[in-house]
Amino acid sequence: MALVAFMQASNVSVYSGSWRYPASEHGFLDLRYYQKIARTLEEGTFDLMFFDDRLAMPAIYGNSVAEAVRYGARPVKLDLTAVLGVAAAATDHLGLGATYSTTYYPPYHVARTFATLDHLSGGRAAWNVVTSVNDAEARNFGVEAHLDHDARYDRAEEFIQVVSRLWDSWEDDALVLDREAGEFADPSKVHELHHKGPYFQVRGPLTVPRPPQGRPPIIQAGSSGRGRDFAARWADLIFTGDPSLQVAQEHYRDQKDRIAAHGRDPDAVRVLPMAYTIVGETEAAAREKEDVFLNRLVHPMASLALLSELTNYDFSGHSLDDPVTDELIESVSGVRGLVQGVRRHVGDATLTLRMLASHRATLLQGPRFVGTGPQVAEQMQQWFDDEACDGFVLAATHLPGTFEEFVRMAVPELRRRGVFRSEYTGTTLREHLGLDRPEPMRAPSGSDS
Ligand SMILES: Cc1cc2nc3c(=O)[nH]c(=O)nc-3n(C[C@H](O)[C@H](O)[C@H](O)COP(=O)(O)O)c2cc1C
Repeated sequence: MALVAFMQASNVSVYSGSWRYPASEHGFLDLRYYQKIARTLEEGTFDLMFFDDRLAMPAIYGNSVAEAVRYGARPVKLDLTAVLGVAAAATDHLGLGATYSTTYYPPYHVARTFATLDHLSGGRAAWNVVTSVNDAEARNFGVEAHLDHDARYDRAEEFIQVVSRLWDSWEDDALVLDREAGEFADPSKVHELHHKGPYFQVRGPLTVPRPPQGRPPIIQAGSSGRGRDFAARWADLIFTGDPSLQVAQEHYRDQKDRIAAHGRDPDAVRVLPMAYTIVGETEAAAREKEDVFLNRLVHPMASLALLSELTNYDFSGHSLDDPVTDELIESVSGVRGLVQGVRRHVGDATLTLRMLASHRATLLQGPRFVGTGPQVAEQMQQWFDDEACDGFVLAATHLPGTFEEFVRMAVPELRRRGVFRSEYTGTTLREHLGLDRPEPMRAPSGSDS
């Protein structure tokens, strides 16, 4: 079972009201906060500490950031390069993943960032490829409207090819460092790309030698057909967000079929649903905590602000009791699979905005495993055994407590059941995930790609 910790570079977890919880620490502007959490995850032999990202505050609801700022609906996102750097310095084995957008960053910048992080961390970097979902992000980058859904994936396709070839632009043995001969590196082993495509022109080579992992693993989380095919072609880790075991099993099978259809080994790609764990010393304590997070700390405006952001749709013109119609779903241009997923989950009942908002109070795209350590481990193992996943992306109710509790109470039980490692056997993230180091990808010399 692969385990990934879902982190935000702030103290607002995916639970909108989490920062209000008494045990939630407010040190998110201090490097020690991230280092403490990273050490906890490493003690729990997690594969990866993963940070999501968005390049704007939620600003779609009522065309304003006011509600997001007021209620703490993810108004803070620190730059991830610095955050992962300090996490790398505090750990030796833990994988370090960050989200970078193919729509708002240039490929050279992204290739350089992750190659650098991979070197400095000794081969522990991973890149979550996102195409970005909303107009608020577009406006922070001087673009009035967001590129449409399929154009974003066309651009992402070219982007990832360029990044891969930049990572491969230095051959593995290009660095010579011969003091006597005065030869720093062998120029015949450092290649220009001369890439000219519809979206990018990049000469190369990268100013960073080939990363220790060859290419840092790719994470992808698109849920549309186009997103799933993109993931099938490129991803090493696929994050999903499905509300029930049955939906997750269908998604898992579909994604593995798509991977095979792209000529890749489905077992070499890990499909990891997002899941929420609430672990307590007793089941009653865990249930009590669940109630606090679901019902007492979340403000409906915080949920709607986040929902508007994720769907790129302004819900402020609707009342909470309005039904979510097909027409409304058609208007959604952001995370398309999300609303359909919740609708399938509620079955025959008419989905209202209030229901959608309450599901989204926790950004409920995945199962919630609640109970004692052994109870939570048992529920996780059921999903794993029933072919719904290859592990999980675990979201926190509050930080750093959620991961401390999980590592103390649930990890020992997962180990006892033989489904999770007791110690790291390798040092790089690829080794934790059982992934081969890839051969270089390079166009014939002298040719434009
Ligand atoms: C676990 C998980 C984490 C995600 N993290 C991010 C993120 O950090 N930033 C982002 O813009 N989108 C994030 N997404 C959204 C997806 O990357 C993707 O943009 C979204 O599912 C829309 O793609 P689609 O149109 O192919 O469904 C995440 C999704 C999941 C399930």
